Amino acid sequence: MARKYLIETYGCQMNVHDSERMAGLLEQAGYEATDTDDDADLVVINTCSVRERAEEQLYTRLGHIKGLAGRTGRAPMVAVTGCVAQQEGAQVLAKSKLVDIVIGTQRVKMLPVLVARAEAAAEPLVDVATPYDEPTFPLGLTRRDDPVKGFVTIVEGCNDYCSYCVVPYTRGHERMRAKAEILREVEELAASGRKEVQLLGQIVNHYQAPDDAACDFAGLLEAVQDVRGIERIRFASPHPRHCSDRLIAAMRDLSKVCRHLHLPVQSGSTRVLKAMRRRHTREEYLRLVEKLKSTLPDLQLSTDMIVGFPGETDDDFRETLSLTEAVGYHSMFSFKYSPRPNTLAAQRMPDDVPEAEKTRRIVELQALQKSIQARLHEASVGRTVDVLVDTTSRRRAWELAGRTSGNTVVNFPGESHWLGTVVPVTIERAGAFGVWGRPAASEARHAEAATC
Ligand code: 5AD
Ligand code: SF4
Repeated sequence: MARKYLIETYGCQMNVHDSERMAGLLEQAGYEATDTDDDADLVVINTCSVRERAEEQLYTRLGHIKGLAGRTGRAPMVAVTGCVAQQEGAQVLAKSKLVDIVIGTQRVKMLPVLVARAEAAAEPLVDVATPYDEPTFPLGLTRRDDPVKGFVTIVEGCNDYCSYCVVPYTRGHERMRAKAEILREVEELAASGRKEVQLLGQIVNHYQAPDDAACDFAGLLEAVQDVRGIERIRFASPHPRHCSDRLIAAMRDLSKVCRHLHLPVQSGSTRVLKAMRRRHTREEYLRLVEKLKSTLPDLQLSTDMIVGFPGETDDDFRETLSLTEAVGYHSMFSFKYSPRPNTLAAQRMPDDVPEAEKTRRIVELQALQKSIQARLHEASVGRTVDVLVDTTSRRRAWELAGRTSGNTVVNFPGESHWLGTVVPVTIERAGAFGVWGRPAASEARHAEAATC
């Protein structure tokens, strides 16, 4: 009987995609997927360490597995991968006797080999090597969970060293993937019937093809636009500093590039941005937003924001609130600052905003953001928008959901075979986190079905 694996993923899209890659590798090695601890022979915990809370989840989860092993006498092999693995290496073994393998972010491709080696050696194994090679992954192996959309990594690692951020230490130095390999993977996605590609990189718009000196990120978008079968292109996350006029023009001219930009700002105060080593000011960011909005009037923006960074005063925080108002984001991920190992801020800047004050600030920011996005959604009532259907409800086949080009979630009644198609929907009702509507062309669709 085939051995079973369970992969649990924490953190960002990069981690979600690494898990899809690990699943593909394990299936090639003869494993089958399961979704419970009870019958898993191998549990892979793909960790995130971007914030302290994310890191703690690993040890909570290991506690559950230990409890289960105590009750049933069955102990699966446990592999810890991802950013905590990269950062802590052998310390993970010291903290938990349950772990058999620790695999760093640049050793994902080795997972089945390392599992086999650990089994043979009957002792824990750690591989967090950082070979700094050009990132490459065999085509056709990734086990993609989403039938409509697919991730394609174009840049790995980061050289920016923002003072709060652990990523350069967990994901390593920036490495660009070959354009030819990226395009082959996008073609593979299209051939599998997927309609949307999401290009991934820590600073995705810093891309420069290692195999084509003339191809920057805008050039790559142009090349992906030409892949037949792909209808939508998204990317995450761009850095404001690399949003050149050439990129904005490419976004305007390429029909498949979605009208959404996740543009992390992190703070509205130039003083705090400087301490964060973000290399953009409030004013530069707002100027960029103006340029984006005037070139792409239907563009929807989202962002990441940190509150309670060392030294952030109430006035600084007020600037975060006023920038949030001025931009009018359609969504925001907001976080309380937490010091991360190795980072400049953790080493040199005392974490001096009290926890209760961080909580007060994040609650105020989130309340403001919620009212802004509710207002923006409300303004869309009555409009007809194109929705790429990506979800059918498990409970009711006629309940569908999808996203607009601007990334708004739209819920509406329809037919399950519309999954993966673009449906015009008239918006009837709005909430803070999405909108509800009715297919605009439903009569036409039914008439067409009746005459076929
Ligand atoms: N504390 C709080 N939030 C952080 N982020 C990154 N590092 C930290 C930290 N030390 C947030 C940033 C980033 C997102 C992925 O996580 O907003 O864009
Ligand atoms: Fe992703 Fe950063 Fe978390 Fe690593 S630390 S999983 S790169 S968000």
